[in-house]
Amino acid sequence: MKKSVVKLLKRVIEQLQAALLPLCSKSAILSGLYFTFFSRDFFYEHQAILKARLAYRKQQGMHGKSSALLRRNIHRLEKGLIMQPRRNVFALEYITETVAAYRIALNTPELELSELQWATDVLTEYFNVIDKSHPVINDNYLIFTQLSTLDITSKKPFSYQQKVPHKVSYEDFFALAKFRTSVRWFEPQHVEIEKIEQAVEAALQAPSACNRQPFQFYSISSQPLLKRLANLPGGTTGFADNIPHLIAVVGDLSYYPLSRDRHVIYIDASLASMQFMLALETLGLSSCPINWPELINQDKAVASLLDLPQFKRVVMFIAVGYPSNSGMIPYSDKKQAKDILKHV
Ligand SMILES: Cc1cc2nc3c(=O)[nH]c(=O)nc-3n(C[C@H](O)[C@H](O)[C@H](O)COP(=O)(O)O)c2cc1C
Repeated sequence: MKKSVVKLLKRVIEQLQAALLPLCSKSAILSGLYFTFFSRDFFYEHQAILKARLAYRKQQGMHGKSSALLRRNIHRLEKGLIMQPRRNVFALEYITETVAAYRIALNTPELELSELQWATDVLTEYFNVIDKSHPVINDNYLIFTQLSTLDITSKKPFSYQQKVPHKVSYEDFFALAKFRTSVRWFEPQHVEIEKIEQAVEAALQAPSACNRQPFQFYSISSQPLLKRLANLPGGTTGFADNIPHLIAVVGDLSYYPLSRDRHVIYIDASLASMQFMLALETLGLSSCPINWPELINQDKAVASLLDLPQFKRVVMFIAVGYPSNSGMIPYSDKKQAKDILKHV
C-alpha cells in the first residue's frame, strides 16, 4: 500500500477514535466496546494477562526457585502473628492451601533454601501459637509435622527493638537523593558485575505486595544484544550507543491468579528499581531509567531478544555506567513539597 494511503487511513482512524471519546468514556461497557472495535491498545496486554493466569495454574504458583503462592501465604501468616491482639484462630481459610504449597515447595529441589527456611519458621511459629482444637488446623498441623525436616532458625516475626539501628541521617539521605540524577553520557568503561549484584541486593530490600517480589533484573553488557536492546525504546534516541550496561527490569504477571493484580508488577518493580538506582550512586555508578511504552511491536521485539514469554513484561530499562564528567545533565526542576502535599 502506498505511504500516502496509509497516512490517510491513520488520520481517519485517529479522527474516528477522537470523535468516539465523549460517547465511549460515558460507561465501562462502551469503553470496552471502544477497545474491542476501535483500538488495539490493550490487545497484547489482555492476552498477556490470560496467559499469565494459565501459567499460574499450570505451575501451581511455582517460579523456578520461588513459590509465589507460598510467599504470599507465609506473609499472610506473618501478619496474623503480629496482630494486636492476636486471634486464637486465624488463617482458617488459607492454611490448607499454604501447607499444600509448602509440600510442593519441599518437593521442588531447586527451591531457594532461604525461602523454604522462612516458610518453615513461620509455619512452626503459627502452629506453636494457634489453637489446634479446630479440625482444619489440627489436620494441617499433623501434615506439617510430618513434612517439615528443617531445623528452626529465626526467620519469623520479631519486635522492633531487635532491629539493628541504621546510621543514615536525613541530611545524608537527602544528599544522596539529590545527587542522583538521570545520566545519559557515560565513560566507555566496563561495569563490574559485582557492583550490579550489590545494587540488586539493595533493590531486593524494597517493599513488595505480599512480599512476592515478582520481578527479575536482566543484566546486559554484551554486544550486539546491548545495542539492539538499547535502540528499541524511543527514549534512548541520541544516546543509545553510549550505554555501557543495560538493565531490563522485567515483571512476571504469572505471580498472580487474578487479573485484578495486573498492576502490581509495575509498582513492585519500580520501588525496587529506585533502590537499585540509589545504590548505584553509592558505588560510583550513574543511571537513567528508560520508558517502555505498551506497544505491540516493541513488546514482540523485546520478547524475542530476551526470550520472554508474553506474561513477562518489561517494566523499564535502566542504563548504567560510570558518568562522563563532561557529559551534560538536564536541570529537571522538581516540584515543591508544599504543592504535592495535600493536607486533607
Ligand atoms: C519511568 C521513567 C521513564 C523514563 N524514561 C526516560 C527515557 O525514555 N529517556 C530518557 O532520556 N529519560 C527517561 N527518564 C528520565 C526522566 O526524564 C528523568 O527522571 C526526569 O527528567 C527527572 O530527572 P532526574 O532523573 O535527573 O531527576 C525516565 C524516568 C522514569 C522514572
